[in-house]
Amino acid sequence: MNYAYLSHIRLKNADQQPVYLQLRDAFRELIANGILQSDNKMPSSRMLSEHFGVHRQTVVAAMEELVAEGWLVSKERKGLFVNNKLPEIKPRSYGSAVKHYPSTASFSFHKAVHPTVARKSHLFGFDDGYPDIRIAPYAALSKAYTQTLAESAQRNILTRVATGAGSVLLREELAKMMRTYRGLSITADNVLLTHGSQMSIYLVANRLLTIGDNVVVTKPSYLTANNCFRSLGANLLEVGVDDDGMIVDELEAFCKKKKIRFIFVTSHHHHPTTVTLSIERRIRLLQLAEQYGFAIIEDDYDYDYHYENKPLLPIASYDRHGSVIYIGSFSKILSQAFRVGYIIAPADFIQQVSVYRRLVDRQGDQVLEDAFGKLFQNNTIKNHIRKAAHLYKERRDATHALLCSELGNYLHCNPPEGGLAFWAHLDRKVSLEDISNRCAVKGLFFPNGQTYNYDKTKMNACRMGFASMNSKELHQAIDILKTEIKRTAIKR
Ligand SMILES: Cc1ncc(COP(=O)(O)O)c(C=O)c1O
Repeated sequence: MNYAYLSHIRLKNADQQPVYLQLRDAFRELIANGILQSDNKMPSSRMLSEHFGVHRQTVVAAMEELVAEGWLVSKERKGLFVNNKLPEIKPRSYGSAVKHYPSTASFSFHKAVHPTVARKSHLFGFDDGYPDIRIAPYAALSKAYTQTLAESAQRNILTRVATGAGSVLLREELAKMMRTYRGLSITADNVLLTHGSQMSIYLVANRLLTIGDNVVVTKPSYLTANNCFRSLGANLLEVGVDDDGMIVDELEAFCKKKKIRFIFVTSHHHHPTTVTLSIERRIRLLQLAEQYGFAIIEDDYDYDYHYENKPLLPIASYDRHGSVIYIGSFSKILSQAFRVGYIIAPADFIQQVSVYRRLVDRQGDQVLEDAFGKLFQNNTIKNHIRKAAHLYKERRDATHALLCSELGNYLHCNPPEGGLAFWAHLDRKVSLEDISNRCAVKGLFFPNGQTYNYDKTKMNACRMGFASMNSKELHQAIDILKTEIKRTAIKR
């Protein structure tokens, strides 16, 4: 018998992988590469242990694994053989098939047409408008989470299939909060929990859209929502935005010419420009929705942070016709790392979306959702929002003052009434992309503005999140930004 193939096998130090597993993998690869063929007899365990200088039991353990996996079969009194039921494998050189996981797929697949770019998370700086995760009530969350886990284990409920709508406790608490603070007269039946607003947007759009449907968004808009609608086959129609939010006259003009399936609106703080949709326009939107039969997706991503006066109630709170689907999440309250969001809508729609969501996600994160429910019950969320809003207002004012005093000649922005970001316009002599690259080298994230320049429009504007940096970081960030802006502005 020619056992020359054994020379291919090089055993590494046992620290890297137990020797019996190395032997198992090596023989598996010899068979998968067609070097050891169907019905080939395996060398005896004694011979292999001598050849490799390992204990015989090590070889036996490796062979047992290969028999259990079906690569080898044991024939009584004859020894071990390569399973002859394996499909015929054309011999390839050792190491070509199994060891190297393929870096490219051999099958075709759909590629994202409109990819969105994630920023490098290690850079501090002017993000898209995220909260300061350092101030989140982790101790309370951790306690609520541990308590929920213990209770669930005690009652043996973790294995029970939840409904697609998510934790009853959190849905009830959210409904109570929406009734009390956002004027929505709803119950838990109107609430579906998801893994965040993005998932909500996708689920809702999926249930509404047929390929070729017209969807109205603002220009500029929240790009990831646009991409989601496009990926589902929507034809996007864009309307402008002014100081009062979406220009509803432009929407009406579209309605007169085309059938609109739904509109997407970030009512409270328009994304990206931060303006608030006026009450007149909210009411007109509802009237138009009723008249022309379109749905309104209201993405209220950072309702909780409003600094001037009382926030306007959501459009959904004035809806008497069943036109509005209201979306929100905990991403801006605590951190986007906790993936919990919600959809609020008429119960028949919620029920259908719950059924559909089970195709992609059997249920939400039951333990985390219940823990959030407890944080509502013991007022942790309410108190956190109050404290955070106070802090973010200070940060907004401090950021605005610094931007005006240090960069007033190059950068123009109004302080937003609410939310966690400025909408800043840069002077034409400053290239956003250039500045962004230069700041990145200094460890500062500054958006390159590409998110909003997705067609020929060149706005030279970007969102500048201010809430996630403390005073020291803000000063550092402004220093870097000022230095880099001045450098490039002089050069141009
Ligand atoms: C306008 C808007 N909608 C939705 C989302 C998605 O948020 P979530 O983390 O809840 O999925 C974001 C994220 O920042 C956003 O800015």
